[in-house]
Amino acid sequence: MSETDTLIKKASEARGKAYAPHSNHPVGAALVTDTGAIYTGCNVENAAYPLGACAEALAIGNMVLAGDTYIRKIVVAGPGEHLCTPCGGCRQKIREFGDSKTEIIICDKAGEIMLETSLGELLPHSFGPENLKNG
Ligand code: THU
Repeated sequence: MSETDTLIKKASEARGKAYAPHSNHPVGAALVTDTGAIYTGCNVENAAYPLGACAEALAIGNMVLAGDTYIRKIVVAGPGEHLCTPCGGCRQKIREFGDSKTEIIICDKAGEIMLETSLGELLPHSFGPENLKNG
């Protein structure tokens, strides 16, 4: 199985764990780091709507908890046939641990790839940790 196929499978499995009773829009994410480690996440909603967390955010948290810091590729598995691209906030969260080359793949409910893009395309001219350095 290719790396991307493995990520699609894991993202789809993670979507199955989502807690999304308010939107009925479960999402799964699976990322792979420069070390080859894979981390997954699902969205976790809240009755106080703005407190909900996206699938990408949980995958990133799991990565940081394990000591990894660079996202090479991330797959987002949406719940339907529509495109489930990372929200603006998640693009910036991915940016913290990625760069313009970070691959972003969106698949549908059936695991079919709908879009293969990059963080550079989804968040051009982005602001990241390097931009905080003076000089
Ligand atoms: N959501 C994600 O978890 N990731 C995305 O890429 C897009 C949206 C979640 C947030 C919320 O729980 C639900 O999908 C509907 O917006």
